[in-house]
Amino acid sequence: LLPVVILISGTGTNLQALIDAARSGAIPVRIAAVVSNRPEAPGLERAREAGITTHVVDHTRYPDREHFDQALQACIDAYRPGLVVLAGFMRILTPGFVEHFAGRLINIHPSLLPDFRGLKTHERALRAGVQEHGASVHFVNNELDGGPVIMQARVPVHPGDTPAELAARVQTREHELYPAVVGLFGTGRLRLEQDRVLLDGRPVDTPLDL
Ligand code: GAR
Repeated sequence: LLPVVILISGTGTNLQALIDAARSGAIPVRIAAVVSNRPEAPGLERAREAGITTHVVDHTRYPDREHFDQALQACIDAYRPGLVVLAGFMRILTPGFVEHFAGRLINIHPSLLPDFRGLKTHERALRAGVQEHGASVHFVNNELDGGPVIMQARVPVHPGDTPAELAARVQTREHELYPAVVGLFGTGRLRLEQDRVLLDGRPVDTPLDL
């Protein structure tokens, strides 16, 4: 089983989906550790309940991003993970960190990238009047939410949707999307080569659809 380290900042519903998928044997990975930058992240309790080792690397205790990322990297490296999964991890990572984990660092973002990079994606999607929204899983590079997209899940936008309603619709799909991608990576079918996603050795030039 591929050792995986998962990074969180908050609720951890995506973490939970990955815990459940790993536990049931649906994806061939072992969640070696969960790391949060926020001591009070509810997701930490989900990990503990599943018997997974947790760590807090509190960004407020470091003078700058470089020192925080060095501590985070050391914490992760101790587990020799084949994959590092950002699951609602809300810190921007330094180029050194991203380079160190290149090709084995993935993120889930609540929009159909390249649309709506950054924060408040659901509000912005509603304001833009799009008819379709969703979530994307991508390899992380030094462009914020700009790394090569692996797979997307689409949802319709309904008339009168509030940001919260739309967010809930997207999140339900995230919980299928992330295990699907982590599963592909775990089986060795997915990799990054020269900023290009390869599935079974073939380039994925438009994101896969869940
Ligand atoms: C998810 O919707 C994820 O897409 C988003 O945060 C949420 C975390 O929820 N990530 C980002 O916005 C990254 N910039 P969770 O803690 O319940 O998994």
